[in-house]
Amino acid sequence: MSATQPTPRNNRRSREIFAEAEKVLVGGVNSPVRAFRSVGGEPLIIERGLGQFLYDADGNQLLDFVCSWGAMLLGHANPAVAAAVADQAQKGTSYGVTTELEVRLAQRIRQAIPFLEKVRFVSSGTEATMSALRLARGFTGRDLLIKFEGCYHGHADSFLSQAGSGLATLGIAECPGVPQALAGLTLNAPYNDLAAVEKLFGAHKDKIAAVIVEPIAANMGVVVPAQGFLQGLRELTRKHGALLIVDEVITGFRLRNGSVQNLFGIEADLTTLGKIIGGGLPVAAYGGKAEIMDRVAPLGPVYQAGTLAGNPLAMRAGIATLAQLSAPGLYERIDRKAGRNFGRCHSRMPENRKNSRLRQCHRFAGHAFLYARTRYQLRRRKEIRHQALYPILPKHAGARRFPCAVPVRSILRLGRSLGRRHRLCDTSSAGKSSQNRHFLGREKSYAGNRNPRSSR
Ligand SMILES: Cc1ncc(COP(=O)(O)O)c(C=O)c1O
Repeated sequence: MSATQPTPRNNRRSREIFAEAEKVLVGGVNSPVRAFRSVGGEPLIIERGLGQFLYDADGNQLLDFVCSWGAMLLGHANPAVAAAVADQAQKGTSYGVTTELEVRLAQRIRQAIPFLEKVRFVSSGTEATMSALRLARGFTGRDLLIKFEGCYHGHADSFLSQAGSGLATLGIAECPGVPQALAGLTLNAPYNDLAAVEKLFGAHKDKIAAVIVEPIAANMGVVVPAQGFLQGLRELTRKHGALLIVDEVITGFRLRNGSVQNLFGIEADLTTLGKIIGGGLPVAAYGGKAEIMDRVAPLGPVYQAGTLAGNPLAMRAGIATLAQLSAPGLYERIDRKAGRNFGRCHSRMPENRKNSRLRQCHRFAGHAFLYARTRYQLRRRKEIRHQALYPILPKHAGARRFPCAVPVRSILRLGRSLGRRHRLCDTSSAGKSSQNRHFLGREKSYAGNRNPRSSR
């Protein structure tokens, strides 16, 4: 076998388990993208994870580029997180009433994102965005929502039209089951198109409750906001009496220890968080100014509740994770590693798959790193069909067959052929592309000022 050919994996046991799974779970999975339908290859059956590695049911060691879709910033089975969860399990896993742990995690979040004066913990990103939208509607007394084509905000009814993530890859532009009356309350605009948003505000005067946006769109490949786009949304929403909801379920604590909004000079009315703040357990949150948050029950009439909200096990995992994210230089190290690894992979890509836009993606060296597309223009509905996600590693690294996690031997072999041992790990990251220079420019100014105030 040549040095660059992937070693075939033994996956007999994984196949057996998946065949059983298909009999009792819809499509063999509990979340559609896990079925690998849009990317080819066979669904993985994972037994355990450690650091940057996953081990499947057949004992194969896999290098994990996905990191639970961004949640595992610190890698799998992080010792501090594992110890905290094990300790809490001895003390009970759910009480259904408030614990000090919820206060501590909320304080940590507020310390990192001071403009989140109050937060409410929920159990998933979908719950966070759905609740934030309800609150925006309750606060403004209006019904309409503006969202952006290709952005994904979870699977609540209001967010499912022309969305990114699994909906785009499965070619679902409009989801059956969403009542027409509700779908009609969601207005879509192309990402980065401020003029389109202004037009919608003009056409629906005093009816728009909120604009929801991913501050860096990461569910259609990675699209960095155009200069002035987010500030423009901030100004338009304020001018028209609507709320700005910034969905940081992906970006929160991913690119830096906190929110990315400071990098763009904005502060949203409501911000949603998820993934990393739970350290791999089901935690998400929405938060914002007290004046708005206090409209949520029990202080206000906007009802939202959860049996497992603020779950102690999950709070412990979140606290143990956030405690590690303030380590000096952590994000810089992550940036450097991901940048290096991105460079290696990029240089090995076939020329026809290279694209300058990919350069932006290694800031998200997780799934977005692998799932970056060369072109992704969601300007028209007909373009939201099967969006072929592809791994950026070359075919001979085995990435085509295993788009979510590639066999580590193949990567190590690739590394050796590059003259170095190639150990890719988890991580988000930063990079230096000409296309996101304005973004980096802001970051630089931030670096010189640890507590920048918003310029709004
Ligand atoms: C930006 C964004 N918002 C919301 C969600 C929904 O989060 P969850 O899958 O936890 O419901 C996701 C999921 O990937 C997301 O990427």
